[in-house]
Amino acid sequence: MLFQAVILALAAIARAQSSLTLGNATYVAAGVFPTDAFASYYNSPTATNEQPQPVVTNVLTGQAFPHALTDPNNIPVNDTADPRTLPPSPLDPSLAGPLVQSAFNQILSLANPNNTAWGNNSNCARCLAGLEVGKSLAVASAGSVPTLAVQLCNYFKFSTTCEQTYGILALGQVITQVLAAADVGGYDGQNICNNFVSGLCPLPPPSPLNMTGYFAKPKPANASAPAPSGQRVKVLHMSDFHLDARYATFAEANCTSSLCCRANNPNSHSLNQVLLPAPRYGYFTCDTPYDLALSALQAIPALTGTEGTGFDFTVYTGDLVSHDPENELSQSLIEYTEASLYGLYKKYLGSGPLYAAIGNHDSYNQASDAPVMLGTQLGQANLSTQFSWNYDTLATLWENNDWISSDVAAMARAHYGGYSVARPDGLRIITINTDLWYKANYFNYINMTASDPSGMLRFLADELQAAEDAGERAWIIGHVLSGWDGSNPLNNPTNLFYQIIDRYSPHVVANIFFGHTHEDQFQIFYANNATNASAATAGAVAWIAPSITPLTNLNSGFRMYEVDSKTFDILDAHTWYTNVSSFHALDNQTAQGPTFVYEYSTRAAYGKNVSWPATAPLNATWWHHVTEEFEQNPSLIQQFTAYQGKMSVLSPNCTNPTCVAAKICYMRSGSGPLGKLCTQGFGSVQ
Ligand SMILES: *[C@@H]1O[C@H](CO)[C@@H](O)[C@H](O)[C@H]1NC(C)=O
Ligand SMILES: *[C@@H]1O[C@H](CO)[C@@H](O)[C@H](O)[C@H]1NC(C)=O
Ligand SMILES: *[C@@H]1O[C@H](CO)[C@@H](O)[C@H](O)[C@H]1NC(C)=O
Ligand SMILES: *[C@@H]1O[C@H](CO)[C@@H](O)[C@H](O)[C@H]1NC(C)=O
Ligand SMILES: *[C@@H]1O[C@H](CO)[C@@H](O)[C@H](O)[C@H]1NC(C)=O
Ligand SMILES: *[C@@H]1O[C@H](CO)[C@@H](O)[C@H](O)[C@H]1NC(C)=O
Ligand SMILES: *[C@@H]1O[C@H](CO)[C@@H](O)[C@H](O)[C@H]1NC(C)=O
Ligand SMILES: *[C@@H]1O[C@H](CO)[C@@H](O)[C@H](O)[C@H]1NC(C)=O
Ligand SMILES: *[C@@H]1O[C@H](CO)[C@@H](O)[C@H](O)[C@H]1NC(C)=O
Ligand SMILES: *[C@@H]1O[C@H](CO)[C@@H](O)[C@H](O)[C@H]1NC(C)=O
Ligand SMILES: *[C@@H]1O[C@H](CO)[C@@H](O)[C@H](O)[C@H]1NC(C)=O
Ligand SMILES: *[C@@H]1O[C@H](CO)[C@@H](O)[C@H](O)[C@H]1NC(C)=O
Repeated sequence: MLFQAVILALAAIARAQSSLTLGNATYVAAGVFPTDAFASYYNSPTATNEQPQPVVTNVLTGQAFPHALTDPNNIPVNDTADPRTLPPSPLDPSLAGPLVQSAFNQILSLANPNNTAWGNNSNCARCLAGLEVGKSLAVASAGSVPTLAVQLCNYFKFSTTCEQTYGILALGQVITQVLAAADVGGYDGQNICNNFVSGLCPLPPPSPLNMTGYFAKPKPANASAPAPSGQRVKVLHMSDFHLDARYATFAEANCTSSLCCRANNPNSHSLNQVLLPAPRYGYFTCDTPYDLALSALQAIPALTGTEGTGFDFTVYTGDLVSHDPENELSQSLIEYTEASLYGLYKKYLGSGPLYAAIGNHDSYNQASDAPVMLGTQLGQANLSTQFSWNYDTLATLWENNDWISSDVAAMARAHYGGYSVARPDGLRIITINTDLWYKANYFNYINMTASDPSGMLRFLADELQAAEDAGERAWIIGHVLSGWDGSNPLNNPTNLFYQIIDRYSPHVVANIFFGHTHEDQFQIFYANNATNASAATAGAVAWIAPSITPLTNLNSGFRMYEVDSKTFDILDAHTWYTNVSSFHALDNQTAQGPTFVYEYSTRAAYGKNVSWPATAPLNATWWHHVTEEFEQNPSLIQQFTAYQGKMSVLSPNCTNPTCVAAKICYMRSGSGPLGKLCTQGFGSVQ
């Protein structure tokens, strides 16, 4: 351990320099797949008419994943191998037919507008009563709830894929657990009816937050960050890779719904003829094929000037797995993708460690992670351990790659995949599982009045306190952003997160990193819950990274930071991208692959009218000044918007005053409640 630390420290000193040089401004990837990326393949990796099918090994079992898992021409559906986890209940589903029928009839009656007992304006009350019916069934016969969910979905035409989405093999088991445990007639139910049942209830306000006694110590009056070293190191920030190992070159890229470039997903108006053949290197409607994956991973060292040296370290803000429909997912596909990509990152990104956060697509069921108290509450231990397979896989991969120690890996297994690393250079990296504040994670709808039922934010606050006590700075790494337009995060947990950031900024929290939106964005955190958002109250900034996946309508890109080796403030950010609209021309040839080009320097692009010494960092104060510059010169928002989509030809403009004002509001919003106060509808360029 000590030896490792010394090596790490020496390597960091060797890499730190007073000015850093980048590589070539342009990188043209080879037109042939680098066959040494993997030890062996199920097919010919250099054929141009199909994607490589590497042999990938399950890190826990040592077994190779079978070709059938990723075979693009025969995608497995309706996974039956994985365990289904249901709360305890007395009645076997085979005996519960009449109960299901009765529950179905009761809900139909509740939904009937002629049912005058409910008045004419009581959608929310009807929805809550419907949830109570579902809960009674969950308690009496848990295994029957998916049957009811599918019947209701079909009746109300919620979806055209009801069984595949809500059946026992998909989200049915998750919904059952939530109904059994949630306060469906109260705050939990109001949130469920707002988010999952056609907005039938208005969104209830955030719970009052009582911070008395929350922090171990008051914020020190004399808190200050260390002085800069003047030495810079390189840190890579990559996000949302979304590898699609089932990508089928020349399949339909203009499919009518869901993930395109899949052999089983045609355009419904043109079943027998492909309208737009999927390019070999990827497309705007598709996730990352292996050919694009390896082009990007080869471009990164060449463009950043880290060939042979590696980065000081890499930040990965989550989402490895493709956007498959629910019934094409399985634990195996998650484990396969985790093993494949973390193996490639190890091989291509050089020697520095990689610190990662779990993304909502890196779980099965999608976006699901359950608070551990769930098992205790319902008296069934496996409810609280149902995601351990994933935390164990990730922790083992990270440890095997020498990115984290075995102690830290044990911490990750016990903290939903999140962990804390006190680096010998004085930086504490804290990664958190933001599925626990993501709107689409059904498990978050249990005990929602509480701000932190999982304990994840308690963990974060305790680690920040430890950093303060040790005089360290901290970087926080997560996937789902805490604010922006407020459309992704839940209110209560991110309201608490915001107060934690205030308490430990700016002396401890140097930077925060998120992904999830696939877009190049940022958000600023202020003192006193942003009651007076100004340069003087700006305390921290979150950098939201562009994605590798082009989904949807975006180019593919990545970023590198120049970081002070003592303060861990960011001095500049460099972003590169490749133009996805050029990919069609690269089919059927082996002369060249995608061209990656330099997009922009954050420091050079913004803040021209901000008085800011060349040695001062791009911290929250600077970013607030930049938002003031955006107010003065709205055309800069159009520049920001172009960068947001990585110069995609499909990005919309943002030139009207409503859009400009909304975006500036998002930039100043670090929590769900704050983001929701902004005018909605301009958050994304997709
Ligand atoms: C409601 O009542 C009207 C008029 O009697 C009838 O046409 C309609 O079918 C009823 N709707 C339902 C859902 O029962
Ligand atoms: C509900 O019914 C009352 C009385 O008929 C009527 O005044 C009111 O406008 C109705 N509300 C809605 C939302 O339809
Ligand atoms: C998968 O499940 C769906 C919905 O239940 C069904 O329609 C389909 O036939 C099943 N497919 C296979 C291959 O089992
Ligand atoms: C807030 O929490 C503190 C400490 O737990 C408690 O003493 C106080 O009564 C609480 N205040 C309110 C308004 O609930
Ligand atoms: C801040 O004040 C505390 C208590 O007086 C003291 O122990 C600590 O050294 C001070 N820290 C700095 C950075 O001045
Ligand atoms: C994509 O499909 C739609 C129909 O679903 C069609 O209108 C459109 O022209 C197609 N675009 C291309 C480029 O094929
Ligand atoms: C940079 O470009 C030059 C000229 O095209 C080329 O010879 C060299 O290999 C490139 N370096 C890298 C790191 O790609
Ligand atoms: C809700 O979460 C709190 C922790 O925040 C826990 O103490 C409490 O037991 C939970 N309540 C229920 C009903 O699960
Ligand atoms: C940002 O850096 C400037 C210049 O060093 C400093 O004055 C300011 O306090 C810093 N702001 C924050 C939030 O750390
Ligand atoms: C590339 O090859 C595919 C399959 O052989 C063919 O359908 C397509 O037309 C070719 N594209 C070009 C640009 O030659
Ligand atoms: C956005 O504005 C640019 C420059 O005025 C223009 O070329 C482009 O077509 C516009 N894009 C859209 C989607 O309107
Ligand atoms: C912060 O502000 C938001 C938006 O007004 C509000 O909903 C939330 O309750 C506030 N949080 C605290 C801790 O005051």
